[in-house]
Amino acid sequence: MEDRAITSTLSLSSQSALPEEDKSMLQILGGHSLSGEVSISGAKNSALVIMAGALLCSGDCRLRNVPSLIDVRRMGEILSALGVKLERQGNVLDINASQFEVTKAPYELVSQLRASFFIVGPMLARLGVARVPLPGGCAIGARPVDLHVRGLQAMGADVQIEHGTVHAHIKGGKKRLQGARIYLDCPSVGATETLMMAATLAEGETILENAAQEPEVTDLANFCRSMGANIQGAGTNTIVISGVPQLHSTDYPIIPDRIEAGTFLVAGAITRSEISLFPIVPDHLTAVVAKLKEIGVKVVLEAPDRMRVIPTQQHRATDIETMPFPGFPTDMQAQFMALLTLSDGNSIITETVFENRLRHVAELNRMGADIRVKGNIAIVRGVPLLSGAPVVATDLRASAALVLAGLAANGTTTIQGLHHLDRGYDNLEGKLKGLGAKLERIKGDSTEAIALLSPAPVG
Ligand code: UD1
Repeated sequence: MEDRAITSTLSLSSQSALPEEDKSMLQILGGHSLSGEVSISGAKNSALVIMAGALLCSGDCRLRNVPSLIDVRRMGEILSALGVKLERQGNVLDINASQFEVTKAPYELVSQLRASFFIVGPMLARLGVARVPLPGGCAIGARPVDLHVRGLQAMGADVQIEHGTVHAHIKGGKKRLQGARIYLDCPSVGATETLMMAATLAEGETILENAAQEPEVTDLANFCRSMGANIQGAGTNTIVISGVPQLHSTDYPIIPDRIEAGTFLVAGAITRSEISLFPIVPDHLTAVVAKLKEIGVKVVLEAPDRMRVIPTQQHRATDIETMPFPGFPTDMQAQFMALLTLSDGNSIITETVFENRLRHVAELNRMGADIRVKGNIAIVRGVPLLSGAPVVATDLRASAALVLAGLAANGTTTIQGLHHLDRGYDNLEGKLKGLGAKLERIKGDSTEAIALLSPAPVG
């Protein structure tokens, strides 16, 4: 049973190992319109943190609507290495952390996934000790963890960083962390989640001020509450957690991925196509829908959980500033930039959340876009058309932006660096093909796909 569980974890995704994926490329024949309905998978950022949250409970946790992603597979591998049993069937993932007693996470696995740092809070809360290698920076910025560390210290943990590893234990021979009032210097999603998880099993009340309000934070809170945690205020900037001695089994569905949904809304807009998305949570998409409307695209709510994008032939320019939720999400900035390259007039995009998140600009410019960057600001001058080109994905959302640009461009776009895309989009190619897009994944150095794709339509 145990072997089977681990094997199933390792095959969480049907994708092959990373080096092969690195070599493959996506060829897109642009200029085709899309139609039909696309199903939106469970939220990556919820699934990852909720998988770590399952460490808080010694009973069975059944998660539904878990997306098939490399990041999810990697988180599964990390949990397995800690003694946790996992079994996946379709979108359902069963996690049992009753045998969770390993207090050191393996560097080889943790270093491949930034979100792996989420295990520090539950590990410390449940076992009293945690040794987790620092995740390091990533393509979009340094991504420090000082707010996570300071919050855990306020809750009575001794936290030292030695040789690149966070060593934490509960001070004073106590068995449980202590509730505390914690003000976050900025509303960090990760820090809010780490501290919320740690506080569920702490002694007394924890108050998180200036907390992140992202839907994934609320989803984590709802998951913890389904296990018996006492959490109030998730989704606002003040979250109050009254610790309980232990949590119980649960069966929990993960929310739809608002960033995947936003990406498909832009896919409809940029290809001038009418498509429906299901399931979605409209309140999670308010900022993105507002900006689409501002540039002339219609978005209608066909049902409480179904949205249709109705395109317009000519888009107006607009300005965007990324913000914590409910502001415009940084995770949609690159995709929206692709759309604005084809709009009428000048748009200004200001990235305020991460310091290095405009690397897709150079690649979009290779496709004929006219974008200049000054610091964290991109000035996009709309052009009448993009032309297909070989490009390289620099991070997860940048890769989505290049796919969108490729769908709209004249001719063939070849995207390298697909391991970024596979980290965070569940079957993006299959879903786009289902809508009528012309694209194929090919092995590196191969020219086969050119034959697989039919010629571009005129106009
Ligand atoms: C999460 C999301 C990511 C999203 C981001 C912002 C996951 C797995 N990832 O990332 O997709 O783009 O929220 O919505 O959920 N910061 C500090 N010190 C800290 C923590 C953060 O200075 O201890 C800074 C970061 O460097 C960054 C900003 O705060 O500039 C926001 O980061 P944060 O909200 O923590 O993002 P993540 O949780 O890493």
